[in-house]
Amino acid sequence: SLIVPSVQELAKQPITNIPPRYVHHDPHHASDNAPAPAPTPSVPVIDLRYLFVEASGSLAYSSELNKLHTASKEWGFFQVINHGISESLLEDFKREILSFFNLPMEEKLKLWQEEDNHEGFGQLFVVSEDQKLDWSDMFYITTLPHNLRKSQLFQNLPQVLREKFEAYSMEMKRLAVAILGQMALALGMDTHEMTELFQDGVQSVRMNYYPPCPQPEMALGFSSHSDADALTILYQLNQAAGLQIRKDGNWVTVKPRPDALVVNVGDILEIISNGVYKSIEHRVIVNSDDKRMSVATFYSSNMGTELGPARSLVAKHNVANYRRVPLDAYFKGFFARKLDGKSYLDFMKL
Ligand code: SIN
Ligand code: FE2
Repeated sequence: SLIVPSVQELAKQPITNIPPRYVHHDPHHASDNAPAPAPTPSVPVIDLRYLFVEASGSLAYSSELNKLHTASKEWGFFQVINHGISESLLEDFKREILSFFNLPMEEKLKLWQEEDNHEGFGQLFVVSEDQKLDWSDMFYITTLPHNLRKSQLFQNLPQVLREKFEAYSMEMKRLAVAILGQMALALGMDTHEMTELFQDGVQSVRMNYYPPCPQPEMALGFSSHSDADALTILYQLNQAAGLQIRKDGNWVTVKPRPDALVVNVGDILEIISNGVYKSIEHRVIVNSDDKRMSVATFYSSNMGTELGPARSLVAKHNVANYRRVPLDAYFKGFFARKLDGKSYLDFMKL
């Protein structure tokens, strides 16, 4: 990644026009920005209590599992409620992230990305000087497995944030593994195969800060992309809407709900599911009034594994729809490019 300036600092200046590097659209030709026709469908809500607490033979269980399966096939996105993550942990973590982004710039610069290391504050996927930039700052860090951590970066985090972060990271792993386990059942995949792929998975966390923008219709908070990981869990820290997903050619806004986390299928899970589940393009738009903040936790399979369709599903479907590559080679390719829809996933298709 190239080093980029802080948008949070830029947005503090009394500007009425955003610098050219942040202009993605000419608003008069932004047909791409057209809202979805009414009535807008909304992202499915899955009540995890039925999946995690109800007996698996019950009607409530099988109907919720069916909802999860349909949402993963047709939307690639859903919101989860009754997810079991404690409200106090979510509140404490939110408070620490707010103060983290409000640290003085001198402090943040100590945690800024370096040319050869994309972890820290900054932006990802910036590969050229003339590339459009997103209207956001982010902090990105690999959390699991422990041997992949940049310990220097971890040690420089404010101590309370680091403590909450550890707890949050463990909870997100537990939740991701639990949801993946239910997906294995819904897919008719060998559940041991799923467990083995994900028991010691790679986890990284990205905290996002989208400042208010004086020309929101010309900027993007996060360019359109699909996620490279298997399962992403998104915690929206405030109620400002911004996340949009591409559904049948239209951009559908995900309405934040305070009791929910947003879950989405990433490229790796699309591949493992042999294409049954869909990794969907999404983006973040900005607005002129409110900042927006979010935390995305990415969970992928174990580092030693080969990425490819689950063998139990290939046997069942009688065809493999994606090629097989070592997971580390896949990641290397992903981070070396700028965000551009789903082109990297297309490369994996057979
Ligand atoms: C994303 O991680 O792609 C979106 C994050 C957000 O909604 O802020
Ligand atoms: Fe994403």
